[in-house]
Amino acid sequence: MPTAGRSDKLRIGVLASGRGSNLQAVIDAIEAGSLQAQIALVLSNKKDAFALERARRHGLTEVFLDPKPYTGQPDSREAYDRAILDLLKKHEVELVVLAGYMKIVTAVLIKAYENRMMNIHPSLLPSFPGLDVQKKALDWGVKLAGCTVHFVTEGVDEGPIIIQAAVPVLEGDTAEMLSARILEQEHLIYPRAIQLYAEGKLKVDGRRVVVAGTGTKGTEALISPA
Ligand code: GAR
Repeated sequence: MPTAGRSDKLRIGVLASGRGSNLQAVIDAIEAGSLQAQIALVLSNKKDAFALERARRHGLTEVFLDPKPYTGQPDSREAYDRAILDLLKKHEVELVVLAGYMKIVTAVLIKAYENRMMNIHPSLLPSFPGLDVQKKALDWGVKLAGCTVHFVTEGVDEGPIIIQAAVPVLEGDTAEMLSARILEQEHLIYPRAIQLYAEGKLKVDGRRVVVAGTGTKGTEALISPA
């Protein structure tokens, strides 16, 4: 039974470390009505993350949680994640959305939010996990790059894939040019993945995410070079 005055929309908690353009895409989708969710909390491990400023501009609850007091402890990363978990619980977060959160998440959070924590990564996983992935894609000579939204598991960038977008690599691309085109797609697929979750359409079956209602739509191949 929802509490009086409290919206029953999916409550999401966004963890971000940087400029927060994916957070902005989620905010915009909510404000445009294409994403039925509410942002209960924006949390950053970086005091000057522009993501926090974006949250303030939209009147959202935002928190900078300083990792420093937790360093030096034998289980410092877990202790930090326990503090995050307390905040997520306090704000009744149902789905955790990692949006450029550049800190390894430990089992403390992953177990508490099993199949309820998403990440976006700027490559077509399982190709190019980790960092500097657009440069790695160019160095490898792939013709299609892209981005992936996946559930978070303990293996970094390894969780079950929810949605991907492919982006052609063009002649003369730099890592910055390719990143910019991938980012445009990130901003489309992240809100979409969250909306699918909000609608209860995602079912994790081992490594696979079964997406209800997708049928055989979108069978056209993207060929690169065209
Ligand atoms: C995005 O490109 C996101 O895919 C990437 O960081 C960027 C954050 O941008 N995440 C990762 O590489 C995680 N492995 P944003 O702060 O503007 O959303």
